[in-house]
Amino acid sequence: MGAHRAEVDGRDDAYLVCALLHDIGDTLTPHNHAELAAAILKPWVPEPYHWMVKHHAVFQGYYFWHHLGMDRNGRDALRGHEYYQVGEEFVDKYDMLAFDPDYPAPPLEHYEPLLRSLFR
Ligand SMILES: [Fe+2]
Repeated sequence: MGAHRAEVDGRDDAYLVCALLHDIGDTLTPHNHAELAAAILKPWVPEPYHWMVKHHAVFQGYYFWHHLGMDRNGRDALRGHEYYQVGEEFVDKYDMLAFDPDYPAPPLEHYEPLLRSLFR
């Protein structure tokens, strides 16, 4: 779980909530789920984190889009943006590593107080 890796790294609460919820729209809108999640989180998190969630799919695309006949370097269109490093780091350090099924992540209940605190 990317959120737990971020927690271990000492990321702040808003970052952890982004790590937990950045894929929240994936079943409803698989082709633009990042935008949906970003819209939900926008009122609650700092702008760099909102941008990170909104663009995480294109950063993640670097790792697999070429297998789908797409341009894995789509993220290059964002180079130069003030939050580029924030987005790149989120995917490289947390989101991509979250696919490890053997990672000892805590149960979701571990994050309930955090979610209640941020969204109250
Ligand atoms: Fe995603």
